[in-house]
Amino acid sequence: MSKSNDLFYGSCESYKGEKLIYPAATRNQEPILQVLKRFIISDTDINDESPTFVEISSGSGQHLAHFAPHFPGVKFQPSEVDENLFGSISIYATQCPTKNILQPILLDIRNKLSCYGFEENSIDYMYNANMMHITPFECTLGLFENAGKYLKSEALMITYGPYSKDGIITPQSNIDFDISLRQRDPLWGLRDINDLVRIGEENNLSLIDTIEMPSNNKTLIWKKD
Ligand SMILES: C[S@@+](CC[C@H](N)C(=O)[O-])C[C@H]1O[C@@H](n2cnc3c(N)ncnc32)[C@H](O)[C@@H]1O
Repeated sequence: MSKSNDLFYGSCESYKGEKLIYPAATRNQEPILQVLKRFIISDTDINDESPTFVEISSGSGQHLAHFAPHFPGVKFQPSEVDENLFGSISIYATQCPTKNILQPILLDIRNKLSCYGFEENSIDYMYNANMMHITPFECTLGLFENAGKYLKSEALMITYGPYSKDGIITPQSNIDFDISLRQRDPLWGLRDINDLVRIGEENNLSLIDTIEMPSNNKTLIWKKD
């Protein structure tokens, strides 16, 4: 029987200043890192010209803490819409031995990134894990619209999570997961890769790679035209 995927992240409300550990993030951070190593170029030390890697919906902050030491020449910018998570993200950033994680910024992906000081065509990498299925579809649209506008030409967006394909969800654990999400909120649910490709095309983003991941997840690599 296949293992269920990354449903359980726990409640955020009771955490305001502690370093959080999401079991799902602990499980998936290393497989995601191995994918990132194929797509991220990091050949210098950190400096003013360093490529910028913007994470949308950082959650606990664990992912960037795991990734950043492997790319010392990349500047990592965490972000979150939930300010209760800032304490945790901030501790991970401060404790990063390579000192290339900035402090988190408040960011609702439904807004234009210019609201947060970003210039168009300025971001080298965007990264989003496990948000699309657990938020209303406006967040998915916002993610693609912002990537299409604020990534540099030929820059990459990397998304990770469970997806359906051709309207079909597999295996049964993901079908059950999708049902449980929609029971919690009818606006949530697994997004279909075909819909994402169409939204990508509308925003100058092409799906260039689909990588099968543990626990029935996928990493999708999007390239701006
Ligand atoms: C399941 S958690 C994933 C956290 C982290 N990316 C990970 O993989 O461990 C989903 C995250 O999406 C964030 N989120 C919800 N709505 C959002 C929005 N409108 N803009 C940005 N992030 C949002 C939540 O605050 C939450 O931290």
